[in-house]
Amino acid sequence: MLLNVSLPGHSYPIVIENGCLNQIRAYLNTDRKTMLVCDSGIPKQWVDLVCNQLSDASLFCFEQGEGSKNMQTLEALLSAMVDAGLNRKSQVIALGGGVTGDMAGFASAIYMRGIDFYNFPTTVLSQVDSSVGGKTAVDLGRVKNIVGAFWQPKAVLIDPQVLSTLDERQQAAGLAEALKMGLLFDEKLVEAFEQDTLDLPAIIARSVDLKRQVVEEDEKEAGLRKALNFGHTIGHAIEGSFENYEYLHGECIAAGMLYFVEDEALRDRIRSICTRLNLPEIRTFDAQSVKQLLRSDKKGNETGIACVFVDRPGSFRFETLKPEEIDRLVEEDVYEKHIR
Ligand SMILES: NC(=O)c1ccc[n+]([C@@H]2O[C@H](COP(=O)([O-])OP(=O)(O)OC[C@H]3O[C@@H](n4cnc5c(N)ncnc54)[C@H](O)[C@@H]3O)[C@@H](O)[C@H]2O)c1
Ligand SMILES: [Zn+2]
Repeated sequence: MLLNVSLPGHSYPIVIENGCLNQIRAYLNTDRKTMLVCDSGIPKQWVDLVCNQLSDASLFCFEQGEGSKNMQTLEALLSAMVDAGLNRKSQVIALGGGVTGDMAGFASAIYMRGIDFYNFPTTVLSQVDSSVGGKTAVDLGRVKNIVGAFWQPKAVLIDPQVLSTLDERQQAAGLAEALKMGLLFDEKLVEAFEQDTLDLPAIIARSVDLKRQVVEEDEKEAGLRKALNFGHTIGHAIEGSFENYEYLHGECIAAGMLYFVEDEALRDRIRSICTRLNLPEIRTFDAQSVKQLLRSDKKGNETGIACVFVDRPGSFRFETLKPEEIDRLVEEDVYEKHIR
């Protein structure tokens, strides 16, 4: 399946095909000087698969985990790019999940004021969401994605075969982002989570296509794209509130969505899907640090934080909550009754 992200000045393909990583030459120039970026958790078989097709590549591999998505790793990556002699005609390939893609993408955006970037997402989360759209960033301390740039990839290669090595917890966390897309834009996608068997390739394709449409309509997040923050306002803060990122991004987003669904029946439905996916209930966070992190939210200012609410699948609304209102929300037990 081939999708095209059509943007003024920089359109690019999204290839969704089993085995597409076996023949990357079909999509990019494999003779250019290349920095291949991955983390220590990407199975060697995938790294070798890609590396062996590149004639002039250097490999930058960093310690896996959100804790690495920071300025230190970014600086090490940029230094490695200098050492490897990358110039304006060189390219960067991210082979990995959202952490790898976000950081390699940001490095590509700022190295020599921008060089070509290709994204080969290897997690469900990065395949359904983060690899498309050009948002790149690193975290600063506990504040997520606060330093970054818009930098669109030249192509995104989504190869479902790489998911064969991804554990179930990671798969489920990634599916939370696809569920988010369904809740915002497409009830059919929500229903796909309620079928007897999960059709993973279909869910990935539908979700990434919805992402494509949103990005085409609003590349720089002036309006519609803000809806994708559904679940992320409190979710991000919960994620950052744990010392060592004990919960995965998607797990926190699944929890974070529940704060912004006021319809009791829909909340039950989401919780059933989360239970089915084995997504954890997150009750043990430190509310104080979550509130503090919410104060530094990019979508916020002194008067409030822009939030996204979903009351029925396929439709959403924006509402700016005052700091005290959001604090009250954080105090709620979303796994019990809704109070607001
Ligand atoms: N740019 C965006 O638009 C956007 C959107 C959503 C999320 N994000 C970012 O994405 C990040 C989360 O991404 P993620 O969930 O992919 O996490 P991740 O990149 O940390 O990957 C999760 C883990 O899976 C391992 N892994 C990756 N592929 C594998 C495979 N095929 N087999 C076995 N193991 C594999 C990795 O080594 C890592 O330990 C967050 O930093 C979040 O902020 C960005
Ligand atoms: Zn997310």
